Amino acid sequence: MPLSKYYNVIIENKLYSKKSHLKNKLCRLFGDITFKNKKVLDIGSGTGIYALYAAVKGADLVTCLEPELNGSSKGMNNTFEAVKQKLKLNNIFLLKKTFQDYNQTDIKYDIVLLHNSINHLDENACRNMEQSIAANKSYFELVKKIYDLMNNNGRLIICDCSNKNLFPMVGLKNPIAQNIDWKTHQSPQRWIRIFERAGFKKISLKWNTPKYFGKLGNIIFGNKIVSFLTNSHFRVEFIKP
Ligand SMILES: C[S@@+](CC[C@H](N)C(=O)[O-])C[C@H]1O[C@@H](n2cnc3c(N)ncnc32)[C@H](O)[C@@H]1O
Repeated sequence: MPLSKYYNVIIENKLYSKKSHLKNKLCRLFGDITFKNKKVLDIGSGTGIYALYAAVKGADLVTCLEPELNGSSKGMNNTFEAVKQKLKLNNIFLLKKTFQDYNQTDIKYDIVLLHNSINHLDENACRNMEQSIAANKSYFELVKKIYDLMNNNGRLIICDCSNKNLFPMVGLKNPIAQNIDWKTHQSPQRWIRIFERAGFKKISLKWNTPKYFGKLGNIIFGNKIVSFLTNSHFRVEFIKP
């Protein structure tokens, strides 16, 4: 299927504001990753924008886990099914369950995505990671489960906002990321420690700028300092060696 149809359907359904922003986003999110003949798992897939892209780009199988829990908006799963139908895709499936409840261990994935969802998997543990061994253990077990579900040389991408941001640190509301509950986020360094302890190897850590900065803006300003002053959005890519 032509990629242009995917862009049109996503924009028509108001899942993303502008085609150019979406193109930039996908480029930054997936980098050099290709999907042909790959199996993809999107954990906390939301409306499935990114998973649908993987399906359009020729993935063998895309599994979306979306329980419509913490961090979701109403009707995400219905939206996903409507868009899937419009795109006439038969290689992508949505399971309305949590990652904790996912137990289909006979499928091994080549690409796993957690876009803005890692912190929601166990929000209570995420909030308490600085002081609680049990909270760290809880996440370690979730990450180990991801590891076991992947093929060797598989790639894992996590994106989220870091809790290290100027505004919450000085007790002010962040004007760019107004709805973020900063206490339910962690720094990429903390996530990297947990993922590496579970056996993953970090490939890269990158900082994203808000989408209206555009492609050039991200090239110039996509760094830790500007991120600290804006929305602190990061992307970490790992490989399962
Ligand atoms: C902020 S949304 C991100 C959605 C999508 N990935 C995106 O970036 O547009 C976080 C998603 O994680 C899902 N979620 C929460 N707890 C989960 C769990 N235990 N297992 C899988 N998904 C979960 C929520 O239902 C929610 O849709």
